[in-house]
Amino acid sequence: MTSAGATSTPGILARRFLPDFDGAFPRHWCGGDAALTHVLNTYTLLVPGNEGYFIRTLKRCLPLIDDAGKRAMVQQFMRQEGQHGIGHRRFWRVLEAQGYRIAGFQSTVDGFLYKVLEPLTPFKLRLSMVSCIEHINAYLGHEFLAQRILEDAQPELRALFEWHFSEEIEHKHVAYDMLGLIAPSYAMRVLGAALVMPLFYTLLTFGALRLMVQDGSLFQRRTWSSLARHLFSQHHMARQTLRHVFAYLRPGFHPWQLDDRALAQMAIDRHSSPQGPVLRPLNAADPD
Ligand SMILES: [Fe+2]
Ligand SMILES: [Fe+2]
Repeated sequence: MTSAGATSTPGILARRFLPDFDGAFPRHWCGGDAALTHVLNTYTLLVPGNEGYFIRTLKRCLPLIDDAGKRAMVQQFMRQEGQHGIGHRRFWRVLEAQGYRIAGFQSTVDGFLYKVLEPLTPFKLRLSMVSCIEHINAYLGHEFLAQRILEDAQPELRALFEWHFSEEIEHKHVAYDMLGLIAPSYAMRVLGAALVMPLFYTLLTFGALRLMVQDGSLFQRRTWSSLARHLFSQHHMARQTLRHVFAYLRPGFHPWQLDDRALAQMAIDRHSSPQGPVLRPLNAADPD
C-alpha cells in the first residue's frame, strides 16, 4: 500500500489510523472475553508512553549512523511509533466513557518509567530495553495475526490492534539493528531483556487485574476459563511466549529469522480496503 507522496523506506510505511471512536462499544469488546479485553486495554494504556520512549531513544541514535538508508529507516520507525501513540490514546476516551478509572494507573506507571527509571538508565541499556520491547511487540503481533485472535473483536478495535501489530512486524528489526550497531555486546542484550520481560508482564497483569476489579469480571468463573484457553488450550500463549523469549536470547538471533511480513501485509490490506478504509499512508506533508 503506497500512494503518491507517501514517505517510506522499503517495508516500513507510516500510516494514519482514521477512526475517532465516537460510537458505542461493548464493554468486553474482544468477542465478550473480559480477560483478553483488559489485557489489551492495559496494553493500550501503556502504548503512548512507551512509543515516546522508543522515539527519544532512537532519535539519539541518529547522529551515530553514517548510512543514509539506515537513518531513513529509523526516521520511518519513529513516524510509525508516533502514529501508534496517537491511535491508542484516542481509544482512552472509550474506556473513560465506559466508566473505567484509567488516569491513576497510566500516570503512575508513566511517571515511574519515564521520569524516574529512564533518566537513571544508561543510553546503551535503554536501547537494549527498547530492542526487547520491540521483540515483544513483534511476537504479540505475530501470534495475534497468525492465530486470528481478534477475529470476533469489535471491528474498529480489531483494526486498531491489527494495524499496530502489523507495523510492529514491519519495523521489528530497527531497534535490534541499532543495538547491534551501537552496543553489540550479547551481555547488554540479555541485561535489557532481563529487566524488560518481568517489568512488562507485571505491568500488563496488574493493569488487567485492576480493570477486571473495576467491572467485577475478576470474580466471574468464565473470565478465568477464557484466560486459561488463551494461555494454554486454545492460543497456547504461555508456550508461544516462552518460545519467542528463548529465541531472543539465542546468541545468533535476528528478528527476520521469523519472516512474517506477508502476515502483516495481509492485515494492512484488510484494513485498507476501498470500501471502508481505516488506514491512510502518511504523506511527507503530514505532521507526525
Ligand atoms: Fe508501536
Ligand atoms: Fe515498534
